Amino acid sequence: MSDQNDTIGIDDLPIREELKGQSPYGAPQLDVPVQLNTNENPYPLPEPLVARIAERVAEAARGLNRYPDRDAVELRTELARYLTRTGGHPVGVANVWAANGSNEVLQQLLQTFGGPGRTAIGFEPSYSMHALIARGTGTGWISGPRNEDFTIDVAAAEAAIAAHRPDVVFVTSPNNPTGTAVEADVVERLYTAAQAAKPSLVVVDEAYVEFSHRDSLLPLLEGRPHLVVSRTMSKAFGAAGLRLGYLAAHPAVVDAVQLVRLPYHLSAVTQATALAALEHTDTLLGYVEQLKAERDRLVAELRAIGYEVTESDANFVQFGRFDGAEGSHAAWRRILDRGVLVRDNGVPGWLRVTAGTPEENDAFLDAVRELKKEQNA
Ligand SMILES: Cc1ncc(COP(=O)(O)O)c(C=O)c1O
Repeated sequence: MSDQNDTIGIDDLPIREELKGQSPYGAPQLDVPVQLNTNENPYPLPEPLVARIAERVAEAARGLNRYPDRDAVELRTELARYLTRTGGHPVGVANVWAANGSNEVLQQLLQTFGGPGRTAIGFEPSYSMHALIARGTGTGWISGPRNEDFTIDVAAAEAAIAAHRPDVVFVTSPNNPTGTAVEADVVERLYTAAQAAKPSLVVVDEAYVEFSHRDSLLPLLEGRPHLVVSRTMSKAFGAAGLRLGYLAAHPAVVDAVQLVRLPYHLSAVTQATALAALEHTDTLLGYVEQLKAERDRLVAELRAIGYEVTESDANFVQFGRFDGAEGSHAAWRRILDRGVLVRDNGVPGWLRVTAGTPEENDAFLDAVRELKKEQNA
């Protein structure tokens, strides 16, 4: 038995050909004092909210012998209210769909609009799960271009859409790992190109939008039935452990994802917890304001130390430049040696740091100040 355990690996199993030799997604989880590598919110949920979650979950627990509300109507109603209040565009329950993290939302979209024989395009570097979810759903992946400054090269993107005629177009704003926000007129142009080419679904991933200096792209939903805006409670709501993502789109898109969603995919406990968090929106958005100020401080101080910084609209900052992929990896290691974990996303010459508490950010800034001195020595 133990011999077999040693000798049989994944690739010896009859798995799908395209999964052979691949690695699962995941940032290194190392036990270091300052962890600024996964774009989490550093602030634990406030105690009154923790108490409210306990209350609502206890209420839900009394009904756990039954399946949950399959359509999550109360939760979607509250998410629609939140979007309407903060997104600059009226949204109703029929426009909103929720799942276990925005990763599951994106997976459901690719199961519905992508799949075998179909393709999706994203403009890289960007959130690597878009390509991985494409692979997992059998959707072909096309890597589209960006400019040197990490903004989307619109003319090249339009040309790539016209040439490849993808079924799904991903636009991430603010983009991960660069922090770059996308202008509304860029999304308008890409949407027009995508409709002329196919027509295809355009997914605007706004996981970090609450941290942006700019408004949400939600108003672009008006008159664009093939546009989807995806959101999450993992970042601004400080609830990465909750696993709650959602989308806003034309009601027909919400109807379409019903074809692939598992029945009762959102547990009653998840729905109750998310509803409790939404009751505390204003407090949680207060933390977002603090994080935005810390993000801006990181940008200013990194520049003052002598690093290049990509303009950031997210709760993280991309900084460099190091000498190619080897240089960024060596810098990552030196920062780690000083007890601070940042992220090497594989963008040659650049690293990404998540805005943490003021104390965590000070520890990071001390580490990179030392690193700069070493490099200059
Ligand atoms: C751009 C982007 N979209 C989506 C997600 C997924 O978030 P979740 O599945 O926690 O909602 C992330 C997580 O880091 C992200 O960076």
